[in-house]
Amino acid sequence: MGKANLDWSNLTFAYTPTNYHLEYYYKNGQWSEAKIVEQDTISLPIAATCLHYGQEAFEGLKAFEHKDGSVSVFRPEENARRMISSARRLLMAEPPEELFLSAVEKIVKLNKEFIPPYGSGAALYIRPLLIGISGILGVKRSEEYLFLVFASPVGPYFKEGLKPINLYVEEKLKRAAPGGTGNVKVGGNYAASLIVSKKVKDMGYNEVLYLDAVHNKYIDESGPANFFGITEDKKYITPESESILPSITNKSLMVLAGELGLNVEQRPMPVDEIFNLKEAGCCGTAAVITPVKSITYRDKTVTYIEGDQIGEYSLQLYNKLRAIQLGEEADTHGWNYKIEL
Ligand SMILES: Cc1ncc(COP(=O)(O)O)c(C=O)c1O
Repeated sequence: MGKANLDWSNLTFAYTPTNYHLEYYYKNGQWSEAKIVEQDTISLPIAATCLHYGQEAFEGLKAFEHKDGSVSVFRPEENARRMISSARRLLMAEPPEELFLSAVEKIVKLNKEFIPPYGSGAALYIRPLLIGISGILGVKRSEEYLFLVFASPVGPYFKEGLKPINLYVEEKLKRAAPGGTGNVKVGGNYAASLIVSKKVKDMGYNEVLYLDAVHNKYIDESGPANFFGITEDKKYITPESESILPSITNKSLMVLAGELGLNVEQRPMPVDEIFNLKEAGCCGTAAVITPVKSITYRDKTVTYIEGDQIGEYSLQLYNKLRAIQLGEEADTHGWNYKIEL
């Protein structure tokens, strides 16, 4: 079968419907077989716990076509484990790792004509979603769950590729606090962040840089991405915090940074350190690395990039990870999960 008739190189990070999605139901302590569904809507009890009490967790990962036509998904085992930890935190039924991986394989195969061609800069984004579906009025965990997986071809997060952005350090509004749900991927965190993104965008910045909720001193993360900085003396520093999402991209970049000869430090990172960095970046599945051009903290702005010249290490890390994902470079860590189409 050929490819869908899409303008692959002009795709954005927007939802494009595909052939099918998958549904697995959890009932009486058991997960059902996969149900292959054509329409892209679902029907729910009006009292479903996901709608009222936020029993909802999701994941985001990508499938890439390689030059030889083979297809692989980047580190889906990590997403499977993260979804289990999100489910555990919200007291939801946990989709086992094998079920998650089999769903990922199935969704790619069922929608194979939507896998963007090698060289287009696009990828097939896979969105697993777990929701509580029992209609219960009281604040209680759901008895039944739906694990749903869909896919959508997406373009690069920024059309221009590595487009440097300006961050603003927000001190009042928070997305998460220690002991809360910042370290899992649940919808409530994103609902809480919308107003913050709007605030900083209205002020003329591209994204927010959050500080920890207890001391207002340590860097947490930036919107939907982890943060890292690179120093003159060759350190890759990234915040350790119990209220940030453990990014799979960041985990991978830390390995690659070590291989590039950088000293990797994952530790609480006081915000004042932004003034000593040579390069800074945000990282996540959507864009791999988004270089940071400047950060504004109170009345001071530190600028890392003049014009559009990306920092040396940020560029090397980006190129290296992309090359692995696209099968252009040896996958020495076994990060690519091959899908037999
Ligand atoms: C809040 C948040 N932090 C970090 C990330 C980056 O995580 P990953 O690299 O696993 O995509 C994401 C995106 O998933 C996110 O939503």
